Amino acid sequence: MKNIAILGATGSIGISTLDVISRHPEKYSVFALSANSNWKKMEKLCIKYMPKIVVMDDEEAAENLRKVAPDGVMVLQGKSALNDVASHQNTDFVMAAIVGSAGLSSTFAAATSGKRVMLANKESLVLGGNLLINAAKESGAELIPVDSEHSAIFQCLQGGKEGLKKIQLTASGGPFLKTPVEDLINVTPKQACNHPKWKMGQKISVDSATMMNKGLEVIEAHFLFQLSHSKIEVVIHPQSIIHSFVYFNDGSVLSQLGLPDMRSAISFALSYPGRQNSGVESLDLTKQESLEFLSPDMDKFKCLGLAYGALEQGESAPGTLNAANEVAVEAFLNKKIGFLDISKTIEKTLAINPISRLDTLASVVENDHLSRQIARSIIEPRLS
Ligand SMILES: NC(=O)c1ccc[n+]([C@@H]2O[C@H](COP(=O)([O-])OP(=O)(O)OC[C@H]3O[C@@H](n4cnc5c(N)ncnc54)[C@H](OP(=O)(O)O)[C@@H]3O)[C@@H](O)[C@H]2O)c1
Repeated sequence: MKNIAILGATGSIGISTLDVISRHPEKYSVFALSANSNWKKMEKLCIKYMPKIVVMDDEEAAENLRKVAPDGVMVLQGKSALNDVASHQNTDFVMAAIVGSAGLSSTFAAATSGKRVMLANKESLVLGGNLLINAAKESGAELIPVDSEHSAIFQCLQGGKEGLKKIQLTASGGPFLKTPVEDLINVTPKQACNHPKWKMGQKISVDSATMMNKGLEVIEAHFLFQLSHSKIEVVIHPQSIIHSFVYFNDGSVLSQLGLPDMRSAISFALSYPGRQNSGVESLDLTKQESLEFLSPDMDKFKCLGLAYGALEQGESAPGTLNAANEVAVEAFLNKKIGFLDISKTIEKTLAINPISRLDTLASVVENDHLSRQIARSIIEPRLS
């Protein structure tokens, strides 16, 4: 029996993880759950899954939950409680599914304490790539990708990396794949969050619409698979059936296919190296529309180019890119800036914040804070 801690349990990945776990009560037990402030949703999860520990980041939410949580559920609050749960001696597997850089420190806590880290929070790798990889190596932690593309590549590389030529991440192209660039100026948060294939949280949905999500994934792939940026390509595949390609130098190309449902990748991260029922229907290719593949329009999806640029620059640049993106996406969701201002804010932040070496978690966090300050100062004048 494996004890699972799901960090970001109230979110899209968190709920899908609970769905997979509940199909295998003989294998997995819900040990701990965490969320930010949504205590009402957490109350329902407590009643259904009876975790031993719940951590809410927000103080008021924790107080409210304590009043209604069932007996036997201990409600804790704050970041250090979250790290304690991630590294708890009774925790076996950690689902790192907090959105954004807020997930950094708990992902590190899990990685430094030798857990199986099921990594949905790609931002942790973007911010502290080498540090996280090294921390996992030192402690013996397993980093299993949950992003569907990285899970696909991870699955295709089970035979090893010998003869690996390049990888190609597939991208749906998001809701604006066919929207002319001049029409993007007026798109609303609701339109940006209306993803044609994947049902996801708001932040990653906007990232998909700008294609920053793919940019973050390129950086994630660089660290996970230890490949240079020149060996990581992106191809648009609107049907989201093929979840990436791995090219070998004997002319072979391996890929993993499946319906666009995150439970497949989550299930594999749980059952690795084995497989189990995830609740996802099998693919029937005879019933699928035809599969298309296109090169991304780098003039339209500027965020993708910015991400490649930051990866090439290295050091603190990916962290700066990520921080500026988080600030800009939040401002866009709050209707403070337009859709096209997202890439402009990131570009300016990258130009202002000098590249620095990030050797410690503290320096990663410091760069994140500084980049946020810069991004906010770029957005502020527009607000006045
Ligand atoms: N959704 C997908 O299909 C998908 C696919 C691949 C990768 N990912 C990655 O998985 C991660 C989660 O995505 P998602 O779509 O599941 O996000 P989501 O639906 O927005 O859920 C985010 C979760 O994080 C919690 N959270 C937010 N801010 C927090 C904070 N400051 N401290 C502690 N917890 C906080 C939220 O709690 P509250 O509910 O209380 O706000 C919620 O439980 C992201 O890194 C995303 O890039 C997602």
